[in-house]
Amino acid sequence: MCKEWNSFKEVSGEIKKLSKVKVNSARSSTDILNLKTMKSENVQVFLSNIGEVDRVLGKGFVRGSVVLFSGEPGIGKSTLLTQLIGKIGGLYVAGEESAGQIQLRVKRLGLDEARFDILETNSVEEIVEKVERAKNVYKIIVVDSIQVMLTSNVTGVVGSVSQIKESTYRLIELAKRSGVVIVIVGHVTKDGEIAGPKLLEHMVDVVVTFEGERNSELRILRSLKNRFGPTDEVGVFRMDEKGLIEMRDENLKMIDSDVEKVGSALTIVMEGNRPMMLEVQALVVESFAQIPKRIFSGIDYNRGQLLVAVAQKSLSLPLYKYDVFISVTGGIRIDDTGADLAIVGAIFSSYKEKGLGKNKVFIGEVSLLGEVKRVKNWERRKKEIESFNKVMFDIRNVRELKKGF
Ligand code: TYD
Ligand code: MG
Repeated sequence: MCKEWNSFKEVSGEIKKLSKVKVNSARSSTDILNLKTMKSENVQVFLSNIGEVDRVLGKGFVRGSVVLFSGEPGIGKSTLLTQLIGKIGGLYVAGEESAGQIQLRVKRLGLDEARFDILETNSVEEIVEKVERAKNVYKIIVVDSIQVMLTSNVTGVVGSVSQIKESTYRLIELAKRSGVVIVIVGHVTKDGEIAGPKLLEHMVDVVVTFEGERNSELRILRSLKNRFGPTDEVGVFRMDEKGLIEMRDENLKMIDSDVEKVGSALTIVMEGNRPMMLEVQALVVESFAQIPKRIFSGIDYNRGQLLVAVAQKSLSLPLYKYDVFISVTGGIRIDDTGADLAIVGAIFSSYKEKGLGKNKVFIGEVSLLGEVKRVKNWERRKKEIESFNKVMFDIRNVRELKKGF
């Protein structure tokens, strides 16, 4: 019967699902429950021990749940999930790459090969069979990626809507039945040319996306949906030749260099709901060009121009005959006016050839008149500063930068 339906490619998946729903509705033969008298379920969770991942998941991984991990091709999904298995140990289902390629990556990332079981397959049936036969040896399974998985339950070519949906459905069943956590990798493209993750969001328990600009090293992990916790936390990583590095560790390393630097100012920006410490660097040098250079990276060009003008006026710096270069460490792009004061501070420090003090952090939006205004999430930013054992340089006007330096 099914075979006949399946001759209509995409539609077949839908019909199949509807019939499934009916089968499942057999569950409703149980009695009506009152919540008060019902035994509460024991939710079992475990942490990944990658701080930024746990932060995004809230409680950690919930046993028997399915996480959809989506992002553009090449953004670093396989890399992060390899690091995850490296921490927890588990099964990596290699649909796209060979076991040999994964071994190379594991070696390159300096992870423990013994933690990895690899199953090279595109067959969902094979995954189900092997995992059930292994009987609870795995806490977590990564399926990389859903777009290359096939199930014989439906026809349709690999990567088609019916295959992707049915494969996911079968993996969800497997997770529920066995208690294993399954992380499903799904590729997306900005223009949505690859079928996938969007179709699956309602089916899975958790949806996280991995984002970043191709020309920047910064990667943001965000949760779009989480049946077990809030979705407002983001995780921040930097992609480097040793894999994905948690920005918090990175910051500590960068910031705890105990030298006071000329032309440098620390600030806290908000990335989503998340305070993040960054260093702004400025280089102010005498110009030999007709029009002095303004070269900025990591900040908005117009904002930078404005802040250079404010520095010139409010701090009486003759910047009209100086080239000004500004950059933000870590290849990060600041889109937060809270960093204004740090930008002005770094310019001032470079011009004066004096450090601003290694323990001070500069936060505040700067107005055309040089006034410094508080920005939102002030308290959260302040707490972050304290967690680094630094102090806020709290001033009302950029003119006050002159005092004390
Ligand atoms: P990958 O994890 O394969 O992306 P995805 O699974 O999302 O398609 O990562 C792709 C890029 O990351 C690749 O171009 C190489 C780069 N990369 C690093 O820069 N450092 C590393 O340690 C690794 C493993 C990859
Ligand atoms: Mg990949």
